Amino acid sequence: MTAKSTNTVWHHATITRASRETLHQHQSVILWFTGLSGSGKSTLAHAVEDYLYHLDISTFVLDGDNVRHGLCRDLGFSDKDRVENIRRIGELAKLMTEAGVITLTAFISPFKSDRNTARNLVPHGDFLEIYCECPIETCEQRDVKGLYKKARAGQIPFFTGIDSPYEAPENPDLTIDTQSLSLEASVQQVIELLAQRGIIKTQQD
Ligand code: ADX
Repeated sequence: MTAKSTNTVWHHATITRASRETLHQHQSVILWFTGLSGSGKSTLAHAVEDYLYHLDISTFVLDGDNVRHGLCRDLGFSDKDRVENIRRIGELAKLMTEAGVITLTAFISPFKSDRNTARNLVPHGDFLEIYCECPIETCEQRDVKGLYKKARAGQIPFFTGIDSPYEAPENPDLTIDTQSLSLEASVQQVIELLAQRGIIKTQQD
């Protein structure tokens, strides 16, 4: 995208990300959940947030459906709008990382290139891609929001997995089989990843 803001000068903050991490007593990181609608991204992100909150860790969940009520309310579901949606979320997550917060994003984020762009906005290792793997048949069976039914009836055009593509991650930091794993077991997998990467301490440390 061509930048339209010209004649702007970056102002360097005196309170840095490192200062904020010291204040919060933990590192910041982006946990980027990706997967089909109904694959459990939001449920898992909120359950991980709940777990971290009880460890006194500052977190924030950015959720696709919620963000589309405000920051991204001008965007629909064409490829172009999804690209812009994920661009904004990547930039927002980057700012929240600077703010010293563990940011959990729950967006379908169907395109590999957009997820890679978001990854490249932050230093290496600060973006952990978590693939909520679930067959579309299961998502469709669950159909928590009743959207698959509507999409099959032709009432929602460009529905991911039906008439709009989903590009599964090739090399995610973690894949969670949300079809078979319980929510508790899925949360534990994310917590183990954070411990392995040295972002949080576990009781064994
Ligand atoms: S993304 O593709 O741009 O990453 P996002 O995660 O923000 O999507 O929004 C997905 C949510 O919007 C779905 O969980 C669903 O509730 C709703 N939705 C409405 N229309 C569509 C559509 N055409 N395709 C997928 N999800 C849709």
